[in-house]
Amino acid sequence: MRVAADAPVTLGITGASGAPYAVRLLRALNDSGTAVRVIVSGYGLRLLQEESGIDGVDGLRAATGDWSRVELYDSLDRGATPASGSAPSRGMVVCPCSMGTLASIAAGTSRNLVERAADVALKERRPLILVPRETPLSLVHLENMTRLTRAGATIMPAAPGFYHRPESIGDLVDFVVARIMDHLGVEHGIGRRWRSGEREEDG
Ligand SMILES: Cc1cc2nc3c(=O)[nH]c(=O)nc-3n(C[C@H](O)[C@H](O)[C@H](O)COP(=O)(O)O)c2cc1C
Repeated sequence: MRVAADAPVTLGITGASGAPYAVRLLRALNDSGTAVRVIVSGYGLRLLQEESGIDGVDGLRAATGDWSRVELYDSLDRGATPASGSAPSRGMVVCPCSMGTLASIAAGTSRNLVERAADVALKERRPLILVPRETPLSLVHLENMTRLTRAGATIMPAAPGFYHRPESIGDLVDFVVARIMDHLGVEHGIGRRWRSGEREEDG
């Protein structure tokens, strides 16, 4: 099935450490004019508060720019639009992705809307990008990631590089968010792209 380039991206925010990545990603998607379907798990809301000082959905709205193209869904409503394969979507990101949600997607259990929407992305052969933060990884984690990779998902650990010599936490967050935007195929101007020899040229 062909999907329009301006179809919405689904963003699931779950209760892994890494809430600042989710905030920056939603802001970047909003800045790019991309339509976004947002689903935040209960623990996702808790981590937004613990790590970014964001109180609830109203706080998330205030921190992430223009919400005119954002639709927010109840994470427990498995009958909402993102639960259906007939709803056009250019793909889904779960950022950050807890090991619990990752395991449920690997098992296809669809026990909440994040898990169901991810299951739909897999069955419809749409991009599914999972952004875990966990370290170290158990064999269970690794096997779930392998299974998901075989099913078509992209596992994109929140592991920023240092070759651009980041000067702030924001630089590290931007590094990860820029890679997610690249994989979604959304144009952005976040961070600098690596060019061999650039540092010498910069002098
Ligand atoms: C402060 C805090 C940090 C957490 N960090 C992680 C983490 O990095 N990775 C993870 O898989 N779970 C982490 N958890 C546990 C998850 O929030 C928990 O497993 C939860 O049930 C995940 O549910 P969800 O995937 O529906 O959001 C953390 C919990 C808290 C309170």
